[in-house]
Amino acid sequence: MSEVDSIEKQEQDNPGLKKAGVIYGDVGTTEFTCTITSAKVEQGDYVQVLHEKFGWVLGRIDEIKRKTNLTVDKAKELMNGSDVDIQETILAKVVVIGYRDEKGLLQYPRIPFNVGSIVYLAQDEFIRKVIGLKDIEKSGAYIGRLFKHKNIRIYLDINIMVQKHVSVLAKTGAGKSYLTGVLMEELLKKDVTAIIIDPHGEYPSLKIPAKKTKIHDEFGVTPRGYASKIKIFSPDTELNEAKPLKFTLASMTPRELINLMSLDTRQFLIPLRKAMDLLRTSRQFFDVKDIIRVLESEDSPTLSPLIAQLEYLSEMGIFARKGTRIDDIVTKGKVSIINLRGVAPDIQELVVQRLSMALFELRKRNKIPPLMLVVEEAHNYVPQQGMAASSKILRTIASEGRKFGLGLCIISQRPAKIDKNVLSQCNTQIILRVTNPNDLRAIGNSVENLTKGSLEDIQRLPIGVALVTGGNISMPLFVEIRPRETKHGGESVKVI
Ligand SMILES: Nc1ncnc2c1ncn2[C@@H]1O[C@H](COP(=O)(O)OP(=O)(O)OP(=O)(O)O)[C@@H](O)[C@H]1O
Ligand SMILES: [Mg+2]
Repeated sequence: MSEVDSIEKQEQDNPGLKKAGVIYGDVGTTEFTCTITSAKVEQGDYVQVLHEKFGWVLGRIDEIKRKTNLTVDKAKELMNGSDVDIQETILAKVVVIGYRDEKGLLQYPRIPFNVGSIVYLAQDEFIRKVIGLKDIEKSGAYIGRLFKHKNIRIYLDINIMVQKHVSVLAKTGAGKSYLTGVLMEELLKKDVTAIIIDPHGEYPSLKIPAKKTKIHDEFGVTPRGYASKIKIFSPDTELNEAKPLKFTLASMTPRELINLMSLDTRQFLIPLRKAMDLLRTSRQFFDVKDIIRVLESEDSPTLSPLIAQLEYLSEMGIFARKGTRIDDIVTKGKVSIINLRGVAPDIQELVVQRLSMALFELRKRNKIPPLMLVVEEAHNYVPQQGMAASSKILRTIASEGRKFGLGLCIISQRPAKIDKNVLSQCNTQIILRVTNPNDLRAIGNSVENLTKGSLEDIQRLPIGVALVTGGNISMPLFVEIRPRETKHGGESVKVI
C-alpha cells in the first residue's frame, strides 16, 4: 500500500478539486510537463498533484503553450476557405514549489511524480499552507491579495521591513508611488514612525480619504485620511501647509558648501574657509549672509563668483543660523513628509544627506524612535554611477541601519541605475511592471528564486499587480495591490 491515501480517497475528501491536466513525458523533481485539459487554466495558476510517497505537492504553471498540427500549407488552405482538420493540445511547464512536512518545513519531493498523475488546480487553503502565509494582522502590512485568489490576503511583516529594508521597483507609471502609499497607510495604522523623501510632493494626500469604490468593498478597505498623523516639511517656505526645513550652516564644512556650488574648489575653498573660520571664532551660529559680509569686506573682485553663488544659496533659504531640530521632524508614530517639489537637484541631495546623517546618528544613540526612511526616486540620491552628496550615508544606512532600527525603503523607476550594493541589502522586494532589459537584468541579479517565466511575467504585469518576495514571503508571489484608503497624490496629468 502507498504511504498516502489513494487519489479516489483524496478526491472524495476534497470534493472541490478541479482537474487541470495530466503529467506526461520526462518528469523531474523540480519541474514537469503536463497536458492541460481545462480551458480555465492559465499561466501563473497554482496546481497540486498527489505524490505517492509525499502526499499533496504544490506547483505553479510557469509556461503554457498550444501545440497544433497545422502546417504552413494547411494554414494557406484554411485561408482559401477549405475545411482543415486541426488537432491541438495545450501543454504546460509546471515548476514544483513543494509540500510541508510534519515539522512544517517546506520540502521538495525527492522522487519524481508518476507520469499520468492528475494535476489539479490548487485549493486556497493548500496554497496558504505550502507558501506559509499567515494572517499577521497585528504586525503585518495588508498590501493586497494573491493574484486571482480573492480569499488569500497578503501581509508583509513590518518588523522585517524596517529591520531589513524594502525596495519598490518598476517602470514609470507602473504604480510604485500608489503602492508605497498603501505601505505608508499600513505603517500609520500601526503607529510606526517614518520619514518620506518626496521629490514630487505626492504624499501629503495621505491626509485625504480616497473616494469609495466597489473595489474598496471587494478588498475590505474603508477610505480614511491620516491628517492628524502627518507632518510636512519643505525647504521651500512658500509651499502650502509645509513647515520650514532648514539646516544649521555652522555644521557644514567649507568643502561641503563649495560642492553645492558650481565653482572651482581650488580657487575658492581657501577664502571660504577663512571667512567661515573667522565667523566661528566670534559666534556659535551664523548664516550665508554673514559669510557674504565677511567676503565683501575683503574688497577683492576675484571673490565675486563665490559671492554670487552664496547669494543664490541664501535665496534658497536652506541654511539658517539655527536649523530645524530633528526631534521636531521625527515624532513617534507619525509620518513626516519632506516635500522637495520644485527644489533644485543639488539642494535635494544636500537635504537627503543632512537628514539621513542626522537620523543615523540619533538612532545610534537611541535619541529618536526606530523608523523607516522612505526614499522616492532613489537613483538620484544613491546612483550606481558617480556620486551624489547623499550616496555615502545611504550606503551606510543600507549596510548598518538594521543594527540600529533604521530601515530604508528604496523606490525607483531605474533599478539598473541604483547602487547595486544598496539594492542587494533590501530584503523585502516589491516589483511592478518593468520592461527595460538592463533593469530586468538588475532585478534578475538581486531577486532570488525568480523563474524564467516570472521574469517574463514582470514585463507584462497589469497596473496594480506586483511581484513580492523576501521578508516573511519565502517565494516570489504575484499580488493584486489593495486600493488606497487615502487619495493617491501622483495621478497622471491629463493633457486634454
Ligand atoms: N494598485 C493600483 N490600483 C489602481 N490604480 C493604480 C494602482 N497603481 C497605480 N495606479 C494608477 O496608475 C497611475 C500611476 O501610478 P503611480 O503614480 O503610482 O506610478 P509610479 O510608478 O510611481 O510612476 P512614476 O515613476 O512616474 O513616479 C496613477 O494614476 C494611479 O492612479
Ligand atoms: Mg511615483
